[in-house]
Amino acid sequence: MAIYLSGSEKATILFAKQYAKTLRAGDVVLLNGEMGAGKTVFVKGVAQGLGIKTEILSPTYAYMNDYDGKLYHYDCYRLKNGAQAESLGLTDYFGGKGICLIEWAENIADVLPETHKTVTIKKISTENREIICE
Ligand SMILES: Nc1ncnc2c1ncn2[C@@H]1O[C@H](COP(=O)(O)OP(=O)(O)OP(=O)(O)O)[C@@H](O)[C@H]1O
Ligand SMILES: [Mg+2]
Repeated sequence: MAIYLSGSEKATILFAKQYAKTLRAGDVVLLNGEMGAGKTVFVKGVAQGLGIKTEILSPTYAYMNDYDGKLYHYDCYRLKNGAQAESLGLTDYFGGKGICLIEWAENIADVLPETHKTVTIKKISTENREIICE
């Protein structure tokens, strides 16, 4: 487990860029944290670390954005359960060739792979965040 204290959006992006180097094909990372914690900001940093040039936009309405099969960015906020994710084909990418980063994974807890990583972002103040990597 590692804990990082971030004092700005930029610091979170830089940290996530480094964190990306620890990721391997097939990894599934659950991004925990309240609304506005910085989960999507973290994904931007990981994308930079993976050399993805496309702008990362929140997949709130699409549920998942696919960045060249390299990175799959999920936002499960509006999903009701794992069965819904499965019927939409969203679970097909777990353990595949890309890396899956999942916001609001608790909504699809029953279909998540047992082996996964977790990044928890805690809002300490307007600009400060505690980022816990497990
Ligand atoms: N240290 C920090 N790290 C990350 N974001 C920060 C930090 N300080 C301030 N912010 C701000 O917090 C917000 C984080 O937004 P972001 O969309 O990443 O949250 P989220 O966790 O994805 O929320 P949601 O669950 O609604 O998708 C941004 O407006 C960002 O500028
Ligand atoms: Mg988000």
